[in-house]
Amino acid sequence: MSIINIAFFGLFGAIIIYYLYMNSYGNQIPFELSQIQEQELEARKKESGNKNYKIPNLFFVTPWNKEGYRLTIKYAQKLDMISPAWFSIRYNNVIDGKQTVNEQWMQEIVQANPQIAIIPRVQIELQESSFIQQINNPQLLETIINLVQYYSNKFHGIMIDTPFISYIDTFDAQDIVKFLQKLKAKLGNKMLVLTLYGIYNSQQYKHSTLRKLLKLADYTLIQTYDYQIKVEEDLMLSPYSWIQDNLEYFMTYKEKLLFGIPFYGFKKTEQDTTHFMGSELLKLNASNFITEWNKSTSECIYKNDQISISYPCPDFLIYRLQLIKKFGRGYFVWEGGQGIELFYQLL
Ligand SMILES: *[C@@H]1O[C@H](CO)[C@@H](O)[C@H](O)[C@H]1NC(C)=O
Ligand SMILES: *[C@@H]1O[C@H](CO)[C@@H](O)[C@H](O)[C@H]1NC(C)=O
Repeated sequence: MSIINIAFFGLFGAIIIYYLYMNSYGNQIPFELSQIQEQELEARKKESGNKNYKIPNLFFVTPWNKEGYRLTIKYAQKLDMISPAWFSIRYNNVIDGKQTVNEQWMQEIVQANPQIAIIPRVQIELQESSFIQQINNPQLLETIINLVQYYSNKFHGIMIDTPFISYIDTFDAQDIVKFLQKLKAKLGNKMLVLTLYGIYNSQQYKHSTLRKLLKLADYTLIQTYDYQIKVEEDLMLSPYSWIQDNLEYFMTYKEKLLFGIPFYGFKKTEQDTTHFMGSELLKLNASNFITEWNKSTSECIYKNDQISISYPCPDFLIYRLQLIKKFGRGYFVWEGGQGIELFYQLL
């Protein structure tokens, strides 16, 4: 092939790829609030379709935000794992949350995607003054195993959530590792999923601890949201460079990691700062807001003189999905009920 042929073929290929890309995402990625609101109405009429980003994912759903149940069923074929936030274990080892288990949703989501894995979250309420005793109490292990066995034909595993896992080295609490090792051994073929805070400094975790934890878990979630909030400035949800730092930090570990993407945001007025959801974004009067793209964080802010709303926009999502894919990792979303359907269409 001559140089001209190669150049021509490259150009031709690029045009085709561009054409396919534009077709798969509609004509443009909406940016202004009015476009987002319009395209959301379109998105709601569409079917799920298959994944655009062929990387592993996990979605949280919560009993207090029921929209998540509906959306995860509609988009089930794009989802690999789903973690309902149903359970907590109190200091006396009593499990709370069985009354919130949504049997009908489990049935419907498995029908919609028989491959989906249901891995409920169990929050363990540990006290700083006594967490070592709590962890070493055989009753705690038994309570968790009993729960998994009770639902053994429904659950594909269990997610253990306590901030103390992120503080193992701070508290020199290797007993937590031993506890998780025992749990993993008893889980048999059920999955163990762990969740860790994102990295703010490279001393936060010891490599020896991370090696043990990540090896134990079938998947580990790295919580790359809830970025440390600075009140004076616009709020940051999950700055792009911080996610990149996290992806790079964890590059030496070959285990399966999922990086967090928020479907929530914050609304800041002169009086206060409140939590903000996609359903509220759709109700705003678009002619009163402009959208700003912050290039240094790759985040969107919807604002006017009185209000500043940090909430993901479609570009926010695409930038992060592409970055995570580039690193060969997966993602997880907190949480399915707070997003808009436009986001689900993009996934
Ligand atoms: C939206 O805001 C504009 C400008 O402030 C106003 O003219 C319009 O009536 C508002 N629309 C609704 C539906 O409230
Ligand atoms: C982008 O966000 C950072 C962090 O909140 C802030 O310091 C900076 O001023 C923002 N830039 C623009 C152009 O808004």
